[in-house]
Amino acid sequence: MGTQENIVFLEGALLGSHDVWKASGHVDNFNDPMVDCLKCKHRYRTDEIDLEKSCPHCGNKDWTQPRQFNMMFQTQLGASSDNSSVAYLRPETAQAIFVNFKNVISTTRVKMPFGIAQIGKAFRNEITPKQFLFRMREFEQMEIEWFCKADDALAYFEAWCQARKEFYQSIGINTDKIRLRQHATDELAHYSTACVDVEYQFPFGWKELEGIAHRGNFDLTQHSKHSGKDLAIYDEETKQSYIPTVVECSVGVDRLFLTLLFDAYYEDVVDNETRIVLRLSPTIAPIKAAFLPLTKKQIEPMHKIYSSFKKQGLSVQFDESGSIGKRYRRQDEIGTPVCFTYDFDSETDNCVTVRNRDTTTQERISIDSLDAYLQNLLSK
Ligand code: GAP
Repeated sequence: MGTQENIVFLEGALLGSHDVWKASGHVDNFNDPMVDCLKCKHRYRTDEIDLEKSCPHCGNKDWTQPRQFNMMFQTQLGASSDNSSVAYLRPETAQAIFVNFKNVISTTRVKMPFGIAQIGKAFRNEITPKQFLFRMREFEQMEIEWFCKADDALAYFEAWCQARKEFYQSIGINTDKIRLRQHATDELAHYSTACVDVEYQFPFGWKELEGIAHRGNFDLTQHSKHSGKDLAIYDEETKQSYIPTVVECSVGVDRLFLTLLFDAYYEDVVDNETRIVLRLSPTIAPIKAAFLPLTKKQIEPMHKIYSSFKKQGLSVQFDESGSIGKRYRRQDEIGTPVCFTYDFDSETDNCVTVRNRDTTTQERISIDSLDAYLQNLLSK
């Protein structure tokens, strides 16, 4: 069941009118239960603390009643301040896809089943933003809404779970630290029929990295009802109209970036010194290779080789400053998979030394084979 083809991209609005977020269910349901400490005024999500115990901040035990807190940031559009001008910053990118569903169909040549993907900012007034990039009030989301027929949705849901697992493997994340967890019925979001969390084993426990949800046809039905615009599509085969069912993959870019940092961070001891290494897969390492002339005399020939790769659009660095050991460490810390060193012999044997980030082993290879060497490294 192909899921990767037939996907178009969209950049939707950040602000949505009250009606859009009422239709999506976010005005009524996008809540976190919270309590305040009456003494120090600290605010907590009720699932984060034990109300039988005292406040972790001030040590008193004097709680407000738990109450629902809507996490959307509200604002007013235009000059008037009546209810009709109320708008919200989007708490997920998905709704911009649903409200533009018909626009996409009428302007692209997509045929069912197909996906609409979007990457962009989402905003949530989190009660307790924490753990660096893990939970923030302003973050970047990547979402795919996959539109299909209701009868096929479960099979697509499973296909997407598999595809997303493979994605994490393809960017080099340790698969022992990734697991898929099915939501219990009482955990499901208001729009969801079934949901799986892709979880990663962070230093602070197994936590959600991505949500994969079978959303039924909840969103398109709601927007049809509230806007008066029919979002059903016509099926030539059955000669009937229907509202497509949606399978969604949703991941925070910042949270994924944090995951990659935790997953790749490594310390070992080299030459009696602690070495910090980011063991990033070459496919996602920000710098693919570093070019290092051993001494000033080798700057010019090495710079020529470096420039030829730079011109190809490859993300590479040239570093001539400091001892060769220091330069290797610098590259280790930013996760550069290989360093090439041009030395005294290079002029005569037309070779450079390749030093591997993870093993620190070195080998001599011909300058003419560098292109193939890098292509092979990046294709793994
Ligand atoms: N459209 C579905 C949706 O938004 P979600 O589980 O609320 O589902 C999806 O969010 C993903 O967005 C999460 O798995 C996480 O990676 C990311 N995310 C959610 N809230 C976040 C926050 N406050 N800070 C950073 N990332 C967040």
